[in-house]
Amino acid sequence: MTSRTLGIIGGTGWLGRAIAEALLDRHFIKPECLLLSNRSGGSGVGAGVRLLADNQQLVDQSDIVMLSIRPEQFRELRINARGKPVISLMAGVSAAAISAATGAATVVRAMPNAAVEIRQAYTPWFSTASLDEQDAQWIQGLFECVGSADAVPDEACIDYLSALSGTGPAFPAMLQLALTRQAIAAGIPPAIAQRAAQGVVVGGGQMLTRHDPQQLIDSLLGYRGVTAAALQSMVDDDIDALMGRAVEAGAQIARRGM
Ligand SMILES: NC(=O)c1ccc[n+]([C@@H]2O[C@H](COP(=O)([O-])OP(=O)(O)OC[C@H]3O[C@@H](n4cnc5c(N)ncnc54)[C@H](OP(=O)(O)O)[C@@H]3O)[C@@H](O)[C@H]2O)c1
Repeated sequence: MTSRTLGIIGGTGWLGRAIAEALLDRHFIKPECLLLSNRSGGSGVGAGVRLLADNQQLVDQSDIVMLSIRPEQFRELRINARGKPVISLMAGVSAAAISAATGAATVVRAMPNAAVEIRQAYTPWFSTASLDEQDAQWIQGLFECVGSADAVPDEACIDYLSALSGTGPAFPAMLQLALTRQAIAAGIPPAIAQRAAQGVVVGGGQMLTRHDPQQLIDSLLGYRGVTAAALQSMVDDDIDALMGRAVEAGAQIARRGM
């Protein structure tokens, strides 16, 4: 349990709310040390958590400020956070832009994903200023409340990873839909196609928590059968390059800004 006061601007949105709820559930923070703000009112995040309409008031009453608003909403945000660390969850907004707009000298860019909802997000984070051991542990601990996390060596990693881990369920959802559509086109009844594809992505995906992916593929290729033929077709079509192009397309947007 920490005694730092955390203020989350946009704390009732998808990410902000999931993080706030996890911090309380995991006893990482006391309700009285958590402040949230939004423009529309109505929080519903745990008793004792204060919801403010005035962002500057939230900043003034917080030790650490988190920005969990969308990049386009950030353009309208007017706060002075000079002297306070600001943690931004925004994709495509550089630490320099955040520092210029808020006055904060220490900006931490962190990139969780939608799996905060089930507390299985992966969050890379980067701080513009060197942090002491306690502060680094606090930030690491905060993101471990919603999954796993790593400090990364530079901000460029955050922009690239925004398009990789930041996309959360997007890639598996795309894979599941592609498999479903192709199965339907091959004559499999739609409901069966959907369940079969979901089994691959969700059920099969869970096996990766217990097995090394390369070892799995090597052992499946060893059968020289149905699975091996399917895998070889993906290798022949250069699946690495396909995935690389997809991530790079997103990363370019993250680097350029939104
Ligand atoms: N969702 C993801 O998977 C994901 C993954 C990685 C990173 N991110 C980043 O996380 C950030 C938040 O995403 P999200 O999905 O949580 O968005 P969201 O659900 O739209 O939440 C944003 C919240 O900010 C509040 N807000 C907007 N302007 C405000 C202001 N001026 N003052 C106070 N509150 C304000 C909104 O509430 P009101 O309308 O009531 O003000 C809203 O609840 C984004 O920058 C996104 O790039 C999201």
